[in-house]
Amino acid sequence: MFAQMKSLGLFGMEAYIVDVEADISQGLPAFDIVGLPDAAVKEARERVRSSIKNSALSFPVSRITVNLAPADIKKEGPLYDLPVSLALLCASGQLTGDFSDCVFAGELSLGGTVRPITGVLPMAIQAKESGFKRFFLPAANAPEASIISGIEICPVHNLKELLAILNGQMAIPAIAKVEEPPKSEPVPDFADVLGQFDARRALEIAAAGGHNILLVGPPGSGKSMLARRLPSILPNMTLDESIETTKIHSIAGILPPNTPLIRERPFRSPHQTISSAGLAGGGRIPKPGEISLSHNGVLFLDELPEFSHDTLEVLRQPLEDASITISRVSGTLTYPCSIMLVCAMNPCPCGYFGHPTRRCTCHPGAVSKYLSHISGPLLDRLDLHVEVPPVDFQKLRETKAESSTEIRKRVNDARNIQQKRYAGSGITCNARLTPSMLREHCQLSQNAVDLLRAAYESMGLSARAYDRILKVSRTIADLGHSPSIKSEHIAEAVQYRSLDRKYWARDF
Ligand SMILES: Nc1ncnc2c1ncn2[C@@H]1O[C@H](COP(=O)(O)OP(=O)(O)O)[C@@H](O)[C@H]1O
Ligand SMILES: [Mg+2]
Ligand SMILES: [Zn+2]
Repeated sequence: MFAQMKSLGLFGMEAYIVDVEADISQGLPAFDIVGLPDAAVKEARERVRSSIKNSALSFPVSRITVNLAPADIKKEGPLYDLPVSLALLCASGQLTGDFSDCVFAGELSLGGTVRPITGVLPMAIQAKESGFKRFFLPAANAPEASIISGIEICPVHNLKELLAILNGQMAIPAIAKVEEPPKSEPVPDFADVLGQFDARRALEIAAAGGHNILLVGPPGSGKSMLARRLPSILPNMTLDESIETTKIHSIAGILPPNTPLIRERPFRSPHQTISSAGLAGGGRIPKPGEISLSHNGVLFLDELPEFSHDTLEVLRQPLEDASITISRVSGTLTYPCSIMLVCAMNPCPCGYFGHPTRRCTCHPGAVSKYLSHISGPLLDRLDLHVEVPPVDFQKLRETKAESSTEIRKRVNDARNIQQKRYAGSGITCNARLTPSMLREHCQLSQNAVDLLRAAYESMGLSARAYDRILKVSRTIADLGHSPSIKSEHIAEAVQYRSLDRKYWARDF
């Protein structure tokens, strides 16, 4: 007897349809799975056997062959437990009916309960696009998939219940209401940061246009404090951005149980000891790394020089392309990573190089070695460089600074202007402007051109820095609700490129 069920597989950000075929024939009892299964898929045999027995059904004692098609793509993970069991039950006559408009995915426990899997959001999208009517999946994953309309999402608790549903003896259970996630600690607010007007302004610009930013200053000046307050002023996510980011977190299996759709921009701050693979993504079948998990949000690298040089170099291309391609024997995958990179560092090993009152005690060679860790090309990609000086005593005596709510209003206004301007072009913020769009949307007044030329020549800027100044000045103009870029906008943007001269371009 032969039977077939439809299931899904994941390849990077995209899912594809998998045919699960089961054949039961005469012969010595055996159970083989073919079609490039990985270890977890092969182990399905044990889980399928036990869960069928423990669901008061009978496991066929014959020669069983299961094929997962297409056979040329490696199948990963335990999600085929459910479709394999159903195909076996069909082939052995314990389940009858036409299920050609249904897809199934789920891991089984030995007792027959259905366990959650990763990546159901891209799967639901694919199932819908392929014209399936119903997607049977672990109940715990149902809220996540239910964001997609146009396909019925059917939560499954255990194999026995699923059989009753498929036999028409039971209605499809309702998707559990998602409880509001427990109120986490309040997001830190910019109202706590006294003084530091330049750094606050620069972070506001960065958030508004999605620009990369570097904070340099002595220990205790508030760099980490400032960066950690960024989530409170990031612009609202569009629905498309939310779905894209949720897809990546769904694939990585780190979506919090009460958050079917990510609505807050991610803010990830990996530890300095992270490996290149941890940052870029890796594994035999590559999973997204921190850079992709930060997609549409912030990747914060605190104490930048403590990251290994090679790890930092990994960032260069993805920052430019907003996507990262990982090659493994199993195939080449691309994950998106449209991120805002935020870095913080001391100017030298002791931390006081360039300090207004304290003396730097580092050997000159040590300072240049420390800074050379950050390569010129990476520095070039950081649009805004900001110095965070020690806080003024007088400022610390003040009680309140502007709150994040007010800053966020301006950021959202500026981002809305950008979204309107770039509607239909595939980008949503100034940081992602392509060279050709740059010419179209960043028209300068004659004064502004003169100023930019003077800065370009006197500061010895690179062509990349030039592009970045244009993008940042576009954001500054948007924050000021100015349709054209004026010389004052250029002047402010140029000022954020001056740090590389102070620290990096120094002769030791
Ligand atoms: N501008 C500021 N306003 C209020 N408190 C500040 C400010 N800057 C620093 N602090 C205090 O100093 C602490 C250390 O700041 P931190 O961000 O860790 O410094 P850095 O990362 O630059 O070494 C903060 O937790 C905060 O209590
Ligand atoms: Mg710090
Ligand atoms: Zn020093």
